[in-house]
Amino acid sequence: MNLDLVYRQAVLSVAGNPRVEALIKGRARSLVRRYVAGETLEEALRAAEALEAQGVHAILDLLGEMVRSEEEARAFQEGILVLVRALAEKPWPKYVSVKPTQLGLDLSEGLALELLRGILREAEPKGVFVRLDMEDSPRVEATLRLYKALREEGFSGVGVVLQSYLFRTEKDLLDLLPYRPNLRLVKGAYREPQEVAFQDKRLIDAEYLHLGKLALREGLYVAFATHDPRLIAEVKRYTEAFGIPKTAFEFQLLYGVRPEAQRRLAQEGYTVRAYVPYGKDWYPYLSRRIAERPENLLLVLRSLLGG
Ligand code: FDA
Repeated sequence: MNLDLVYRQAVLSVAGNPRVEALIKGRARSLVRRYVAGETLEEALRAAEALEAQGVHAILDLLGEMVRSEEEARAFQEGILVLVRALAEKPWPKYVSVKPTQLGLDLSEGLALELLRGILREAEPKGVFVRLDMEDSPRVEATLRLYKALREEGFSGVGVVLQSYLFRTEKDLLDLLPYRPNLRLVKGAYREPQEVAFQDKRLIDAEYLHLGKLALREGLYVAFATHDPRLIAEVKRYTEAFGIPKTAFEFQLLYGVRPEAQRRLAQEGYTVRAYVPYGKDWYPYLSRRIAERPENLLLVLRSLLGG
């Protein structure tokens, strides 16, 4: 196992400790401001507007995950519907991301499907695309079932995510081919055991390129969601070499991460979207960003020591 992964796994496991959570919540304001657009929908829409002015489109994400009651799941559905209605008024490309566990997947798959269906019934006619984010490995199977069920019901404005760190992903990609999915490809952000996931960054990166190229060759529309300059350069090289048009794929990055690269890619004529999270439940999202980047942990530690 390499050091990157050891660091990541350690942060993700410590971040789950309630005392660490309380400490970070009190002291990580500057990091929150960097990665989260705000706590309200209005702040998120302002951030999206500013991105649009730079040629970068927004993926709005109402933060929330792993809900423990049906009321919470229904409240999140309502929050997402409010977002969908607000986006419908906007002149820009309209796009939201949702997490299945935010809509009650851990309580019942039927509940999550019902709530997703309700979102898609409003979103699709308004031209709002809905991306199902992919969470940790125990939820992958159910999330893929939700995606397939929605497609079988006739919804088309919905997309799925695959993670290159999981051993199972190539098979999942092949199984999805008959659905012609709009695919977001990521490396994967969760703490996964060595029984199910590559632990070595080089292998995860190689798998990422292998899966991305396979999906492009199969004619799928691929959203390459990564900040990794090496992978972005290789996707550009590969698509140019094989004459794959810029309309057949896009790049996605997170709000606050490599904003200059986001603008540059857009200027080069690529479709670029930034994932814009907002809401009060920012802690799990922020923990994953700290786990991706040791400098972020140093910022938190410095603010703790600074008193
Ligand atoms: P890697 O982590 O190897 O980083 C490469 C370089 O990018 C770093 O050297 C650094 O320069 C920069 N960088 C990366 N992370 C940074 C950070 N937090 N702050 C500053 N710089 C950073 N995951 C998942 O499991 N399910 C999902 O549904 C999604 N959805 C999703 C959507 C979008 C739009 C993005 C961009 C990412 C996701 N992810 C995700 C997260 C993804 O799995 C992964 O954890 C992060 O993108 C970090 O991995 P990179 O590919 O950027 O490479």
